[in-house]
Amino acid sequence: MKINLALILSIILASGLVSFGFTYYQISSDRTNLNNELEFKVKQVVQEIIKRDSNYFDSVSENNINRFAKQLSVNYGLKGFAIFGNENRYIGNPEIVKYRAHSVDYATQALAADTAFGYFTNIDGKEIYQYIQPINHQHIASNVAILYADAEYIDNIIGDIWFRNFLRWFFQAFFVSIITVLIIRYGIFGPINKIVNWVKSARMGDVEELEQNPPAKFLAPLHKEITQIARAMNEAKASAEEEAKLRSKSEAIWTPERLKIEMRNLIKNKMLVVVSNREPYMHFRSGKEIKCLVPASGMITAMEPILKACGGLWIAASSGDADKETVDENNRLRVPPEEPKYTLKRLWLTKEEEDHYYYGFSNEGIWPLCHIAHTRPIFRIEDWGYYQKVNEDFANAALEETLDEEEPLILIQDYHFALLPELIKRKKPKARVAIFWHIPWPNPESFGICPWQKEILIGLLGADLIGFHTQYHCNHFLETVNNSLESRVLWENFTVKMGGHTTLIKPFPISIDFTMKDLNNEEVKPDIEFLMKEHGIKTKFIGIGVDRLDYTKGIIEKFLAVELFLERNPDYLSKFTFVQIGAPSRMSIKSYADTALAIEKEADRINNRFKSKNWKPILLLKKHHSHDEIQPYYKTARFCMVTSLHDGMNLVAKEFVSQRNNEDGVLILSRFAGASQKMQGAIVINPYDTDKSANAILQALEMKLDEQNSRMQSMRKEILSNNIYAWAADLLRTMASIR
Ligand code: G6P
Repeated sequence: MKINLALILSIILASGLVSFGFTYYQISSDRTNLNNELEFKVKQVVQEIIKRDSNYFDSVSENNINRFAKQLSVNYGLKGFAIFGNENRYIGNPEIVKYRAHSVDYATQALAADTAFGYFTNIDGKEIYQYIQPINHQHIASNVAILYADAEYIDNIIGDIWFRNFLRWFFQAFFVSIITVLIIRYGIFGPINKIVNWVKSARMGDVEELEQNPPAKFLAPLHKEITQIARAMNEAKASAEEEAKLRSKSEAIWTPERLKIEMRNLIKNKMLVVVSNREPYMHFRSGKEIKCLVPASGMITAMEPILKACGGLWIAASSGDADKETVDENNRLRVPPEEPKYTLKRLWLTKEEEDHYYYGFSNEGIWPLCHIAHTRPIFRIEDWGYYQKVNEDFANAALEETLDEEEPLILIQDYHFALLPELIKRKKPKARVAIFWHIPWPNPESFGICPWQKEILIGLLGADLIGFHTQYHCNHFLETVNNSLESRVLWENFTVKMGGHTTLIKPFPISIDFTMKDLNNEEVKPDIEFLMKEHGIKTKFIGIGVDRLDYTKGIIEKFLAVELFLERNPDYLSKFTFVQIGAPSRMSIKSYADTALAIEKEADRINNRFKSKNWKPILLLKKHHSHDEIQPYYKTARFCMVTSLHDGMNLVAKEFVSQRNNEDGVLILSRFAGASQKMQGAIVINPYDTDKSANAILQALEMKLDEQNSRMQSMRKEILSNNIYAWAADLLRTMASIR
């Protein structure tokens, strides 16, 4: 209110001053013009008068003057006329005789100086203009003619101008004040009140309230930020509560906050750098827009929550066609885009580098080499050359980024960078370097077919720590080293000593972001009918599979099991559909393109065999799906089927379990996925055994709720106590403890 009043007074004062200034200026010039007009008129009349014979005025009578004055009054609206001459003779019409005293002095001066002049006088409160004109008789001024004009009207006009301008100012100030008050009320205080309420909701962590109060468009960015603050508050509150609960239960569940504190204690102010080939966020063009997506990768699912909790730098190869447009001059950007927590640094690979290092050596060489999935590894010398070069480039980037760090913590991801540990350690021996191998490590005989196995092992052994998902893979690695390198393998503590450097080899079964608050989240099951409607399918039950279209995932084996199941259980025809989400992957590699085609053909074949109106047994969704898009399928499915022919861990299995808050649903899991070692509640299958896999589908669909619950509970408990934060804490503690 105070602000309103002060503002209104200021507006009134300012507009008043401006208005007064303008009026004053206008009046000065109008008055001069009106005066000049009057003077001009009077002068002209005088000139007419003195054209007469000058003798006439020597002896003019009072009557004549009267008549004359009347004429002047009628013709020119003048007030009167007088003659002043010798011996102070003053003859004028009766209306002006009283002005005599005001004219005589001026008339005498005019007569003496023989000069005409006019002036304004105020006589008896009235403004009168007098004009005195000497009349020459034989070139000597003997009389003066005095004309009197009423100048009162000039004051009236001026008064009128003042009045009109005052009214204009008044209305102007009035309306401007009203408009200003309205603008303040609705344009400023309204939004401010809204913002205050948002901030209040944010303080309370009330995201729902915020979402129910969407703002006008111009406030949308602020609303978005505040909503994120509310979410952060919520998370903080939830984890504080969770911590409290945990403390009271004296359990040791890992949370992002706990990891953050642990990390601070362990590595003090050291910088955490993650290096991977695949970037956690890629930007791509979609029409005129730039969109961002999280690529399908178990490695990203696992690493991203750690970086979000602890911050740091993630170096990765660019993969999106709009990546360049979203980085700064150092090729960096803060991510996640909606709530930045860490820095992503992108490196640009040439087409040749991508072809030989990524598609070639990494994915046609090492990937099939490490996965026993009956796809022959291909080793080309030029691929190897590019693999070495790109490893060097990434090593240089990591070194450059940690130039000012004495002992950075460098966490290398996966088989794309087997040479990186040694390259980094050679230049920065004090750096703590770990590499985590997300895929299996085969037996020494299988690995031995790689022409550059020694170089790869030496590269890896540059690290202080090498992590695998299982002890089984660690043992394979140690055996491979034992068989092929001049080094000492110490089996009692799983280390390798080579050239004065020791590397610890340890299993760290990777996991997902699953904490107490996820465990207690209320379940809202999406409607199956609605979910399947957009695909034109009517069904009672669904099963779900989520994989990259990769030959190691056993997708065809999965379809064969579905086929056999339906063949044996025709009651389920028209009632059960298996939804396979398949993200296209590495499609430039022939074996991948062939696999994708074969998967599609197999789905078509089985569908053609069983399909009916509005129903088919297999729904193959061949496109990248975000986590949010996959969620409803996880929640609705009766079971999830993971059929990897060989897999390091497989996080899909864990993600499915994490989404089942009602503790129902069944996990069918390949015994060849690392996840099967700990997920005791799963129905474990051999995906090559179609008969048993088909039975597993029936078992899953017909399992009693009690049994589903107890299996699901045990798996959720397992993931909870071995979540990704526990994984990171274990890895970081191990790294910190290595001397
Ligand atoms: C596996 C690897 C990851 C990789 C992911 C997706 O999970 O361990 O490192 O990111 O596959 O493969 P892509 O080649 O698309 O990155």
